[in-house]
Amino acid sequence: MLAVAVLAAGKGTRMKSELPKVLQPIAGATLVERVLSSCEALEPERRLLIVGHQAERVEHSLAAHSGLEFVLQQPQRGTGHAVQQLLEPLAGFQGDLLVLNGDVPLLRPQTIAELVERHRASGSAVTLLSARLADPTGYGRVFADGAGNVSGIIEHRDCTDAQRDNTLTNAGIYIFNWPKLAAVLPQLRADNDQGELYLTDTVALLRPAMHLEVADPDEINGINDRLQLAQCEAVLQQRLRQHWMREGVTFVDPASCTLSDRTVFGRDVLVEPGCHFRGANQIGDGCHIGPGSLLENAHLGRNVEVLYSVVREARVADDCAIGPFAQLRPGADLAADCRVGNFVEIKKSRIGAGSKVNHLSYIGDAELGEQVNVGAGTITANYDGVAKHRTVIGSGSKTGANSVLVAPIELGANVTVAAGSTLTKDVPAGSLALGRARQLVKQNWQPRQDAADAAATPPAAAPEPR
Ligand code: UD1
Ligand code: CA
Repeated sequence: MLAVAVLAAGKGTRMKSELPKVLQPIAGATLVERVLSSCEALEPERRLLIVGHQAERVEHSLAAHSGLEFVLQQPQRGTGHAVQQLLEPLAGFQGDLLVLNGDVPLLRPQTIAELVERHRASGSAVTLLSARLADPTGYGRVFADGAGNVSGIIEHRDCTDAQRDNTLTNAGIYIFNWPKLAAVLPQLRADNDQGELYLTDTVALLRPAMHLEVADPDEINGINDRLQLAQCEAVLQQRLRQHWMREGVTFVDPASCTLSDRTVFGRDVLVEPGCHFRGANQIGDGCHIGPGSLLENAHLGRNVEVLYSVVREARVADDCAIGPFAQLRPGADLAADCRVGNFVEIKKSRIGAGSKVNHLSYIGDAELGEQVNVGAGTITANYDGVAKHRTVIGSGSKTGANSVLVAPIELGANVTVAAGSTLTKDVPAGSLALGRARQLVKQNWQPRQDAADAAATPPAAAPEPR
């Protein structure tokens, strides 16, 4: 039997933020979500989250995660006090308790699995994760013998100078035999520099106590301030890029691109410099993204090209080309073989296969058939100041440059709209629609003589500076 407790009640004073620390975003998820997902594969029987500082906000942020038990720690008197709050909800529980710090987001699921396995094989009362850090400043130090037996943990601020030379660092990740931990939790005393109850002090009270040293010290990076947040973000980004490069994605300049872990790439995708993928993107085989593009919850088919463009909550089918400098907004849905060119914005619109919107257009709340050619500067005037209205353009239709389609309006198939038209009424299939003033030409026309004289008079000389 396994229970997992995540410590997430602290304020995170050093972040200097309105946001509780565990809700700080990192690679597209909150710290606490990332910690929770690192132990998902273990399928624990119980998952408890210790909340305190802005507890409702933390609970609310995790509303979509089912099966979490929230345990309130009020006030927050240290990590040992946090775990003391479990004495009641875990009364009678006979299994192991895995404790995860809510601010240690880089742990790999395999590492946690190995910790659990090692603990069970050795029959220890507690097994904790440790690492050798080049700079362990701020972390607790683990005192252990060569066989991995831990005698105790001393916090950085409580260490003597000599003790600080020990670089074996406490990750803040432990697995305890719960009945044994429950027996010693009431013995904790706040006799330390912070005047808090330290979970780390239970280790000296439990026998046998063991540690497992992780090979990659990055895994135990804790986040206490914005510098560490940025460092951890960099590690996660690097991991994501390396993963996708191994899966067949080319990054021309990997460090210039950021990913989210819900972005999925097909094979032979080429990502040029300066591209950012947020949320749950799906990028099909052979796509060519960038340079300079932002994709958020975008769904791209195969061989789509996106150049210097923004695609958000939009779908783009196979072989489309987007950009440069286009924006596909939520609800844009392009069938195969479409072209969307520079300074075009498309929102909540379906664009049929083979259609082209190549220059300077706004298409909103519209339904375009197949092989439609939208002329440069065509605008769907979808908003009358109160409500949004739909524009329908039938297959094979062409709009002339600078036409305005005032919605609600429907153009049938194979309609031609003359350049410069403002259309307010439906147009039946196969028609030419003109909606503009007729051109007037006055032959042999001269400007009036007095206006011509005024234009010819040189401007008065500027006064000399005094
Ligand atoms: C802790 C460890 C330290 C370890 C480090 C690893 C203790 C005493 N020290 O130090 O040995 O090297 O983590 O990152 O445990 N929290 C609560 N309630 C509280 C206090 C904290 O839930 O009353 C939560 C925080 O929200 C945070 C976690 O516990 O997620 C760790 O707390 P923090 O104050 O950051 O501990 P550190 O000083 O980093
Ligand atoms: Ca910490």
